[in-house]
Amino acid sequence: MRWGVFSDIHGNLPALRAVLDELDRFGAERYAYLGDLVGYGPHPDEVVAAVADLEPLIVAGNHDLAVVGRLRMDWFAPVPRACLEWTVRTVRAETVEYLRALPRTAALGGARLVHALPPDSATTYLTTDVLPEVGAAVDRWRESLSFVGHTHRPQCVALPPRPASPGGGGEVPGAEDCAADGVGACGASLILQPLPARWSAPPAPYRALVNLGSVGQPRDGDPRAFCALWDDDRRTLESRRVAYDIEQTIADMNAAGLPAEPARRLRAGT
Ligand SMILES: [Fe+2]
Repeated sequence: MRWGVFSDIHGNLPALRAVLDELDRFGAERYAYLGDLVGYGPHPDEVVAAVADLEPLIVAGNHDLAVVGRLRMDWFAPVPRACLEWTVRTVRAETVEYLRALPRTAALGGARLVHALPPDSATTYLTTDVLPEVGAAVDRWRESLSFVGHTHRPQCVALPPRPASPGGGGEVPGAEDCAADGVGACGASLILQPLPARWSAPPAPYRALVNLGSVGQPRDGDPRAFCALWDDDRRTLESRRVAYDIEQTIADMNAAGLPAEPARRLRAGT
């Protein structure tokens, strides 16, 4: 099965439309979404309706949780908080209902879906600073692969192999082979790396964490929307960057009276 996988649309309808066109051309059969449908952008109702129509596997992002009172507004810095308060004032009842029902985690075959960090965080940023914590906690979830969003940067981390069970098959020989497609070193020293355009999941017992960037508010210096196709038979992930009408989104943000800073950041992809 080929899955269109994407994250962090943040109420940016032109970016979402461009990504859905690309994923359709790319051969997506089903969809998985990693959270933050709303926040920052001017089209929360339209984005939620379009994503709901896909009937995706989906998890809640921190902005989704805040809009429906599942995360405190004072968690956020002033600018995103102002955008969220605009969203709360603006959204339709059916949008609130959809956001309220979003789960914190979901499973796509052998892959765990969670907005920020496994096992179930919607708020902890995947940065170099948290890698020791990730390495120490990795046996707390059973899936060998996790897809996340939240930082708006497409990245990946190779995780240590699952410990051999007593009487089990033991370690796979050739540990160095697990660094498939530039994923990086396995073992205790974890490395956060840019996600390559074509990535292969490492074979068992090795594990990995993949950040799927952002559709509507990229922060890796590339303003184009990010999306990817996950083939769960071949266990490969192919990424795409998709140009969209950024000026239309900015015009709609300005017309809505949303703060100017997130609009400026769209042009630079920061
Ligand atoms: Fe986000």
